[in-house]
Amino acid sequence: MSKTAILEIDGNRHEFPVLVGTENEVAIDIDKLRSATGAITLDPGYKNSGSCKSEITFLDGEEGILRYRGYSIEELAEKADFLEVSYLLIFGELPTAKQLEQFETDIRKYTLVNEEMKNIIDGFPKNAHPMGVLSCLTSALTAFNPKSVNVDSEKDMYEAVCKTMGKFLVIATWTYRKSMGFPLNYYDNTKGYVENFMRLMFELPTGPYTPDPTIVAALDKLFILHADHEQNCSTSTVRMVGSSHAGLFASISAGVSALWGPLHGGANQAVLEMLEEIQKNGGDADKYLAKAKDKNDPFRLMGFGHRVYKNFDPRAKIIKKAADEVLATLGVNDPILNIAKKLEEAALEDEYFKSRNLYPNVDFYSGIIYRALGIPTDMFTVLFAIGRLPGWIAQWKEMRVNKEPIGRPRQVYVGSPLRDFVPFEKR
Ligand code: SDX
Repeated sequence: MSKTAILEIDGNRHEFPVLVGTENEVAIDIDKLRSATGAITLDPGYKNSGSCKSEITFLDGEEGILRYRGYSIEELAEKADFLEVSYLLIFGELPTAKQLEQFETDIRKYTLVNEEMKNIIDGFPKNAHPMGVLSCLTSALTAFNPKSVNVDSEKDMYEAVCKTMGKFLVIATWTYRKSMGFPLNYYDNTKGYVENFMRLMFELPTGPYTPDPTIVAALDKLFILHADHEQNCSTSTVRMVGSSHAGLFASISAGVSALWGPLHGGANQAVLEMLEEIQKNGGDADKYLAKAKDKNDPFRLMGFGHRVYKNFDPRAKIIKKAADEVLATLGVNDPILNIAKKLEEAALEDEYFKSRNLYPNVDFYSGIIYRALGIPTDMFTVLFAIGRLPGWIAQWKEMRVNKEPIGRPRQVYVGSPLRDFVPFEKR
């Protein structure tokens, strides 16, 4: 691979360095482009633009590969647990048993959320979407934890990581409790992280509650599969907001809002709503495939397609297998799963989808498992956020520790040239 790229503009030749990544990804370093040529690049949606160098996650969209810190998603989903993977993403190495135990102990120091936060959640109507409530509560954590993170202090950074992991899970489940009119639960420091999620969500003061270990194990795996995904929309948002040196809670709050969109994390809710609509209208998958292909129809096949994966999303494969296992274990026979499989088979055979490399993504099957686990549909994206939290933290930490510059893209102005002010009487 040549070490430089040549650009000829206005008859002048300019050389730019070429960077080659660990897995041989090639990048042209255009840091000096504007000063050397006066020109900028234009790349709506950043389809061809790298925002940073990162050591956290590697994706190969053509081969359908996903690795966290070099470990394959298949191995991590099979052999690790969510807190172990969170530690790996954030600190760069798989923890020893002692380190993992200490990490969980240190998270438990911060699982009590300030009681005054309840006044904030009480301000929301019961039917407020949980993602909007979660974004607000996450930002509100700053009010109760105003000390900004000294990213140059490992101790400070570690404390901020544990605090965020501890408090975010609790307030995420409060969004559900609020919508149901249930009392807000407290984290139980004698129980595991994912088991606490189930208790925080479903334990009622009126009787004993023991989460089904199958469900806890399935959720733990789902959280691992959602934990990071390099520079996706919400993670790029977290990095962008953090690049102005806004705090970690404020940056994650912005990430929650970005994730909410139906083209991104909100797709898992949109998939279930789409499948339910297909079921309600007689289960005719072909009719909806035709709608998805019709340029005049805004309908898209939710859970299909991906900006990077032009092959199967490896997470979708794992989740599809887990969906079969979890539904079988729970004895759930959900016709929605059959509709999803019919839709997937038809789409994978269809020229429109094949020619555009549209495959099921992480969101296509996850909602089916969440539904079988008793999670309400509008909480699906909250679960995506719980899973993605360690990835957001890891990426924010990398950006700040590496002292990346404030994010500020350029633009090509295509508006009106200079013109004189027009007084009212002449408008
Ligand atoms: C996530 O980036 C990440 O890593 C995200 C994520 C993560 O872990 O963080 O993986 C999580 O967000 C997964 C994606 C969830 N979103 C959906 O399932 C929503 C449905 N899919 C899309 O809207 C779409 O596929 C995107 C948004 C995911 C990707 O869009 P792109 O890369 O901008 O692709 P595009 O819109 O340019 O589409 C290319 C072509 C177009 O057709 P033509 O103009 O070439 O004729 O494919 C078509 C699109 O119309 N197309 C679809 C389609 N997705 C793309 N047509 C029908 N149904 C779809 N789902």
